[in-house]
Amino acid sequence: MNYENILVEQRDAVTLVTLNRPQSLNALNSEVLRELGEVFAAYEADKSQRCLVITGSGDKAFAAGADIKEMVEKETVDFYLEDFFSGWQRNVVHGTRKPWIAAVNGFALGGGCELALMADFIIASDKARFGQPEINLGVAPGMGGSQRLTRAVGKAKSMEMCLTGRMMDAAEAESAGLVARVVPHDEMLNDALKTAAAIASKPPMAALATKEMVDAAFETTLELGLKHERRLFQILTASEDKVEGMKAFVEKREGQWKGR
Ligand code: CAA
Repeated sequence: MNYENILVEQRDAVTLVTLNRPQSLNALNSEVLRELGEVFAAYEADKSQRCLVITGSGDKAFAAGADIKEMVEKETVDFYLEDFFSGWQRNVVHGTRKPWIAAVNGFALGGGCELALMADFIIASDKARFGQPEINLGVAPGMGGSQRLTRAVGKAKSMEMCLTGRMMDAAEAESAGLVARVVPHDEMLNDALKTAAAIASKPPMAALATKEMVDAAFETTLELGLKHERRLFQILTASEDKVEGMKAFVEKREGQWKGR
């Protein structure tokens, strides 16, 4: 499919999505969200696709935030009636149960930082900069920053970033636990694609269950989370891939996955 604001390609079992509005530093408008919603739904439905990577076009930005030029003339009533920003949770976060990675190649600000935080994890270029500068516009995070950033880096750093608009560089983001890994800029996308290919080569049902149980850690108590983990583990033992995986280990060979 062809899109106006994003590029989409399949590389074997990995879908690569590139935010492609470099003239506005890949600012996220309603059309980007609509197109991403379609891509996430297609990714979820396509059994051949097992991991997705999202990155930004150009050398400068992953995404410099929600599109300020789209919001500048909008009135409160419109924001409320449209339940503005709710589509990100509905169509992106809940758009797929499969794994996806944010490959952050530059500025990830406001909604850009929040989109990266929606991913299962972030791989960052050493040129990446993260921030929630909405306060400078007279507003505040609206796509999850106050919640996901706080869970990722703790109250002190999140509060400081949201109140001052200060940007965090890649090294600080790694030490604060915001990103999984920092990679030299020119190697970052290849590294993210290789990581995605490694995930895509794992038994797919185990990958779904793994994502679900780690996500549960943010939603529930320890006791319930541990129970949820055990139940998912037990469900996986009924899969053909469990039989194959354990047999392959004993026979000292690679497992051949059926995805069920
Ligand atoms: N929305 C719309 N356009 C944007 C944009 C955004 N968020 N960020 C950058 N642009 C546009 C600029 O207007 C400029 O376009 P023109 O050439 O037509 O003027 C183009 O992208 C290049 O940007 P700059 O000239 O500003 O580039 P720079 O290198 O001097 O600065 C920057 C880079 C520091 C990232 C700066 O662009 C900037 O501060 N951007 C805004 C960041 C921001 O405030 N993000 C939060 C948005 S609100 C939000 O996201 C709400 C939410 O919680 C979801």
